[in-house]
Order: sequence, then structure tokens, then C-alpha cells
Amino acid sequence: MCGIIGYIGNNAVEDILLSGLKSLEYRGYDSAGIALNDNQGIDVFRAKGKLVNLKNVLNTQNLKNKHFSQGIGHIRWATHGEATIENAHPHTSNDGNLVLVHNGIIENYQSLREELTQQGFHFFSQTDTEAVVHLIDREYKKTLSLESAVINAIALLKGAFALCIMHHNEPDKIIAVRKNAPLILGLGCNENFIASDIPALIGKTQNIIYLDDNELAIVEKDAVVIKDFKGNILHKNIEKINLAQDDISKQGYKHFMLKEIHEQPRIIRSMITANMSTPFEPIHFNGINVEDLVQNVDKIEIIACGTSLHAAMIAKNIFEELCKIPVIIDAASEYIYKSHLTDAKTLSIGISQSGETADTITALKQARTHQAKILAITNRIDSTIVRCADFVFPLNAGIEVSVAATKSYSAQLAALYLLALAVAERQKCADIIKLTKIKQELFSIPNKMEEIFYSCNHIKQCAQKYSKYHSFIYIARGINSASAFEGALKLKEISYINANAYLAGELKHGPIALLDSQLPVFAILSPDGKIYDKIISNCEEVKARCAPLIALTTSDSFYKKDLFDDVLTIPSVSELLSPLLFTLPLQLFAYYFADCLNMEIDQPRNLAKSVTVE
Ligand code: F6R
Repeated sequence: MCGIIGYIGNNAVEDILLSGLKSLEYRGYDSAGIALNDNQGIDVFRAKGKLVNLKNVLNTQNLKNKHFSQGIGHIRWATHGEATIENAHPHTSNDGNLVLVHNGIIENYQSLREELTQQGFHFFSQTDTEAVVHLIDREYKKTLSLESAVINAIALLKGAFALCIMHHNEPDKIIAVRKNAPLILGLGCNENFIASDIPALIGKTQNIIYLDDNELAIVEKDAVVIKDFKGNILHKNIEKINLAQDDISKQGYKHFMLKEIHEQPRIIRSMITANMSTPFEPIHFNGINVEDLVQNVDKIEIIACGTSLHAAMIAKNIFEELCKIPVIIDAASEYIYKSHLTDAKTLSIGISQSGETADTITALKQARTHQAKILAITNRIDSTIVRCADFVFPLNAGIEVSVAATKSYSAQLAALYLLALAVAERQKCADIIKLTKIKQELFSIPNKMEEIFYSCNHIKQCAQKYSKYHSFIYIARGINSASAFEGALKLKEISYINANAYLAGELKHGPIALLDSQLPVFAILSPDGKIYDKIISNCEEVKARCAPLIALTTSDSFYKKDLFDDVLTIPSVSELLSPLLFTLPLQLFAYYFADCLNMEIDQPRNLAKSVTVE
């Protein structure tokens, strides 16, 4: 959450900061601000709301005659204090000479604030960050060195922080600090950059240094020195990134979400073919030795948040069915604070699109202290989760810009199917003919996904028809229960509609009381005979309460058509693999529903793509 950018060099500082912030807007958009340093002093500009509001503020300023040599910028996702101008970053010392931007949470800010207030510092915001700027200022006044002031101050901070700091008296440098919040350096020619994430540096440089926790960088125009928090110099590798502007453009689609939904067949196809050449040969992963992965493992735990947690729910079904290994799933935020059975015989799988979700990373670090083996499944091989893991499954889905996860979810599912199949093959825990059949079917999934796009118009019309309702219920049974949770999450996060998912068999134990003609029910009908009949009975119960009823089902398994007001179909598929296909119409339904309401689909309110606070 929150995006940080810093620049030092001869090019137009203001433009570089704004374009960097634009690429980081997925991290938060409650407010934005920049600070620019020239020979005269530091100018700070801040605005509530999206970046465009900051641009409007800047348009009213006459900055043309100024020559700025460095600047820092921030896009905020509010934690402490509302989204107001006073709480927007950069925050400034009382004398106006020191400014900083921060991503993370300072846990001891309250006591620091009291101490600094007693010492005569004045606070103007409700943020935790303002305590840091006054703390560094206090140390600067003692040491007259920005670097020493920063080192002294960060030793007193508890919590998570990525910081970019500059002082008017030291216009040759920006100091960047990382502890439990991501920060990277971009190296240019006579210019250098600091950013929360790679998209901010696309088109500016390809040479990157990843800061690790407890490191700081003194960034000058033509030099970068990295030190630990004690001031010892560290030698870090420069890595090359290979991303183009095209990777973060809408490519003609109205929204990133729609583009990313349509990317799914290609991503799944290339993941499958990268790991098995034909269904008749064993699955092989580049970089993961399956024998090592499961050696001495007697249980699997899967830890994730949000949509990634729904992928974990599906994985439990797959692993237990194919590998006969008990699987425990936990929301990372819960795992951290409860006692668990993790031990040296546990494989702990962390699933995270961003690889930066603080809860998931903390949970995996905890799992490691119990000697578990750690596997990270992530879309960002440059992320923190990778550094916590023994094994990494890269999703290679490309940058996901829309805040609502779509392509990363189906890539996570595909990865989990492949892993379970590979483990089942190696451990010989399932009949080889059965496994080959599943692999054959997996190969057919991308084409079937493409077929679903032929019915986009039908899904769109259905979404438009239902967009007048203010609440929704999703029901399913078995492996697709998680599909129902994911469908409801997609709808609520981009439409702000109250959408809840229930196990269809649980409806009658309470939620059925909600039903009337104003509460549509979206039923996902699993293809399997046994479950199919049961869920049809649940739908009869729904219809008897006059609730509008939508069916999502396979084209070949549908009967009782009259029961439903509307029917959406996917191509024929087995129960086990059906979540890979059901997810597409669910995403499209949510997308068209939100589009019909003119919502901010790619940047829904209150959300951020990368949740780097616990
Ligand atoms: C929903 C969504 C979130 C994320 C969750 C975990 O569309 O995107 O629920 O799934 O914040 O994020 P990652 O997967 O990055 O750990």
C-alpha cells in the first residue's frame, strides 16, 4: 500500500515523479503529493483524492522558471488518519527543510509523538509518519548530517517502513530506507530513481537494485551507496528488468480488468505447455524438484489472503483428491495469531499475486521458524515472498494492474493443478490412467476459456438486467464453493454491492431468511451428478421464496431450465477442473455489472493492489 517515488538528476523532476506515481496508483489513491528541491528551498504540493487532483494543483503553480534537482512523491492508501490534505505525504519538518514519504506503519508513533511534542515539535496531521519526520529532524539538529540523523532515528522506530527522505541543506542526495516494506533503486546515467515497485521505472531504466530489509541507500545523481542500519557498506547486485510500456497499457480495452480477463487463456496455455510437453509425459518444473518438495512431508498448509485464499480453498480439494495428503488452509491474518500444527513435516505454501502481502509474508516467516518447507506461488518473482521461500512457482501472468485480481487467480489455480498432478505422479498416489486423463483435459482448458468469450454479450446482458439489485447471494457446493466466494468478492469489490457467498447446503440453516424477490441468487451448478442434483434441490428452495435465480452451469449438464430466470453456460468440463472455467463468467458478470453502474473498475474505493500492512 502507498506508492513511493524518488528522483535525483538533471531531467524534469516533476514529470518523472508524476509519471512514476501514475504507474503506482494501483497501490493507493486516497491522496497524492510531491516535494521538489531547488536552491531556494523545498516546495511541497499535496492533494486529496486521485493523482489527477495533484496535477490540477500543480497546473496552478508557476514552476517553469525553477530548476529542481531532486524530488520525492507519494500516493497514499490511508491507514492512520483520513484521506485529507493534512494527512497526505510528503510530511515536512517544522522548519520546512526536511521532507519524507513513507509506506508502512510505525507502531510506536503514539509514544514518539508525545515525546516529540514535549520537546517542542508541532504536529499538523493524524499520521504515524509525521513522528518520523520530526524524529529525523531532531537527530539532524544534533548531527548536522542527514545520513547520521536517519540512522539514529530508524533505530528508534518500531514497525514497517519504506522511506524516502531529503533535506534542503543536502541537495545532492536522497536517502532511501527499507524495513518490511518494498523499495527498489533504479540506476540511470547521471540520474537515479527510488520506487516502491518496478512499474514506476518502466521506460526510465532497466537497471535495478532490490533493497532488502534493514538496508538504506544514499542515492546521489551519479552514485548509490547501500548500507546496513549500522552504517556498514553493503555490495549488492544490479539486476536487469525486461518490461515495456506495453506491459502496463490497456491495449484497446476499456479497462485493465477486461484486458486481464481476456489474457487468461494465453497465460494458462503457456503455463501448461511450459511444464509438460504432452499429457503422456510426467510434469517437470523448471526450478522445483518435486521429490525435494514433498520429501518427508505429511501435511500441507496453504496460507493466503483474499482471492489468493480462494485459490487455496480450491487447492485443498485438488491435493486431497489427487495426492491424499491432508491440507489445512488459513487466512494469513488468522494464521499469525493462533497456534498451529506446523512442523518439519509440513509443506507451507504461500500464495500471493503481489508477493508483498504483509500478512502472508509474516505467516510464512512464522512457518519457517517451525522448520516447515516453504513454497511461494507468486506473480512477482522480484517480490519479498520469494526471499522467504525454499521453492518458488512463478505465475508469469504479467503485471496485473486492475486492483481486482483476475488473471493471477486463474494462473494460481493452474499452478496448483500442475503441482498436485506432479506430486500425485511422483508419489504414485493416484492411478496413472486417471492422472493422464486429467492432464489431457487440462490441455483443453485454454480453448474452452476462449469459447466462453463468445458468450460475452449474453453475460453482459444478464449483468445489465441484474444491475438494479442492491444485494446478491452466490451459492455452490464442493470444489466450486470457493468459486462462489470469488464470484461474490469480485462483484462486491468493484460494484460496492453487498454480495455474499454460501455453501448451498447451508442456505436453509439461516441465510434463507434473507430471500425475497429483491435478492437474486447466483447458483454455480457443479457438473458432477451427485452434487448437481443436491444443488438443484437447493435452487428449488430458493425459487420457493421468490428470489430471482441465475444458473451458471456446463452446457451439457443442464436440465430443470424452468427453475431459473437466467442461465449462463460454460463448455463441458469435469467437476475437478471446473473452477478454471467457472471463474471467467463470474469475472465477466462482475465486470459488466460494475461497468453498467459506471464504477471506477480498475481502482475501486478503499482498496489497494498490494496490501503491505498487517
Ligand atoms: C481481490 C484481490 C485481493 C487480493 C489480496 C491478496 O480481487 O485482489 O483480495 O487477492 O489482497 O493479495 P496477494 O495475492 O497479492 O497476496
